[in-house]
Amino acid sequence: MRNDVLEVVLSEEEIQNKIIELGKQISKDYEGKNPLAICVLKGAVMFMGDLLKRIETDVEIDFMAVSSYGSSTESSGVVKIVKDLDTEVAGRHVLIVEDIIDSGLTLSYLSDMLHRRNCASLKIVTLLDKPHRRKVDLHIDYRGFEVEDAFLVGYGLDYGEKYRNVPFIFIPKPEVYS
Ligand code: PRP
Ligand code: MN
Ligand code: MG
Repeated sequence: MRNDVLEVVLSEEEIQNKIIELGKQISKDYEGKNPLAICVLKGAVMFMGDLLKRIETDVEIDFMAVSSYGSSTESSGVVKIVKDLDTEVAGRHVLIVEDIIDSGLTLSYLSDMLHRRNCASLKIVTLLDKPHRRKVDLHIDYRGFEVEDAFLVGYGLDYGEKYRNVPFIFIPKPEVYS
């Protein structure tokens, strides 16, 4: 075990078991629809990879990278597209794959944008949801875990770009960020 872990919040096994469940549901809902799964870089990269392995119907993938405008650490709600999709989304059944939804501002912006591009349908799957932090109303179609408002890293979630590769989700010891 690493020595910078204060508390493991979700073990590798808990995460993987949840992903099997989500994969089953998504496979059923999207059977024959040839969905386009969009990974929101970078945080969702681990979840995307593991989830795709559990989806049993054909699915195409693409990637988007976004960043919030403004210097504050809090998301401003204005999102800049750093890397856009390569895929035409008009007429497609789009599934946005996220690691965590916090204020909801990132996804609310992305959803509006994909609707304007005339996707046939749009759903959201997130591994983690912090509902107490929500600033905008957002409908989440598939949710892995509801989590408390704690500082979480691992499994895609970073602190200064670190910890994304850790296979579990944890609260780091305070000396890590103080
Ligand atoms: C994090 C997280 C979500 C977003 C959630 O990404 O991965 O994408 O913030 O916040 P919100 O609901 O308040 O908008 P971040 O901007 O840190 O980029 P990253 O995925 O590259 O780490
Ligand atoms: Mn992100
Ligand atoms: Mg981040």
